[in-house]
Amino acid sequence: MSTSNTNTTMNFISTNKLTNTRVLLIGGTSGIGFAVARAALEHGASIILSSSKAEKVQSAISRLQQLYPDPSFTSRIAGKAYDLSDQATLETTIVSLLDYATSSSIFPTKGNNEKVLLNHIIYTSGTRPSRIPISPTTTTLTPQLYTQSETLRVLAPLMLGKYAKSYMVDAHTSSLTFTSGVLASKPVPGTTLGAMAGSALGGLVRGLAVELAPIRANVVAPGAVETEIFDALGVEEKEAVKEMFRRGTVLGRVADPGDVAEAYVWCMKDGFVTGEWVGSDGGALLKGSM
Ligand SMILES: NC(=O)c1ccc[n+]([C@@H]2O[C@H](COP(=O)([O-])OP(=O)(O)OC[C@H]3O[C@@H](n4cnc5c(N)ncnc54)[C@H](OP(=O)(O)O)[C@@H]3O)[C@@H](O)[C@H]2O)c1
Repeated sequence: MSTSNTNTTMNFISTNKLTNTRVLLIGGTSGIGFAVARAALEHGASIILSSSKAEKVQSAISRLQQLYPDPSFTSRIAGKAYDLSDQATLETTIVSLLDYATSSSIFPTKGNNEKVLLNHIIYTSGTRPSRIPISPTTTTLTPQLYTQSETLRVLAPLMLGKYAKSYMVDAHTSSLTFTSGVLASKPVPGTTLGAMAGSALGGLVRGLAVELAPIRANVVAPGAVETEIFDALGVEEKEAVKEMFRRGTVLGRVADPGDVAEAYVWCMKDGFVTGEWVGSDGGALLKGSM
């Protein structure tokens, strides 16, 4: 990595901030999380990818190895599957994931077998929420549905906060960054459950910012981003959804994952940002109805 070697020998105040850090990206195997993984790798971090499917973790690692074939990059990529959707096993799964992500053996090191604490956790795990109208005729809308839908979006981040002090470097240079969405601030019909979950993350990071200091906690709220999350839609429906989102921004576009990834990079690098709700939404809040 010739440019990085040059950078690390010089006193660059911005580009070296993630060099030699350890970053866990939960949901880093596709979409926004994958773009953040690329950015962290380019900034010199050692990255650990996780999501629920082993084949998706392996595929993401292979893609990164092809994109960055030099051993100075490939030696800094690791990953393992953990499914965070089951509330009954969530806490033990989070602890297993954190044990894995802090083990010294996942990257080539000359050191001992002591655990290596994390510097940053990026959380982008999620699935495309179904539209649930708030109506007496919506039979699927039950108290159980709410807790089930919160597991991946809210309870997993809460459990990460619970164990942060045991698995992260206790410094202002460390951070947790979670993911909400613009619909939390500007819901459309059928997205109330998603808006509730997304808004809960705002309260979570404000609480964690106070309780975990100096470790920082923030949440990014993206607008529409073209990722694999829309793959289940047919071509025509996907285009119609994208057009609706384009019309709902002042920029008239849907984001690339690499756009929004910068918000996460900022949350990692700015040692003074904590408890913040960070929008990257093309100005959606300034626009009329979607
Ligand atoms: N794209 C957008 O327009 C947009 C806008 C606002 C907010 N968001 C939110 O941003 C987050 C990331 O979105 P994205 O577009 O990047 O989606 P994506 O490309 O589908 O990525 C979602 C990630 O979550 C992982 N995941 C899903 N179920 C999981 C589970 N049970 N346990 C652990 N990991 C799991 C997926 O991998 P596996 O399948 O292997 O588990 C994948 O790595 C989501 O929460 C989404 O709701 C997206």
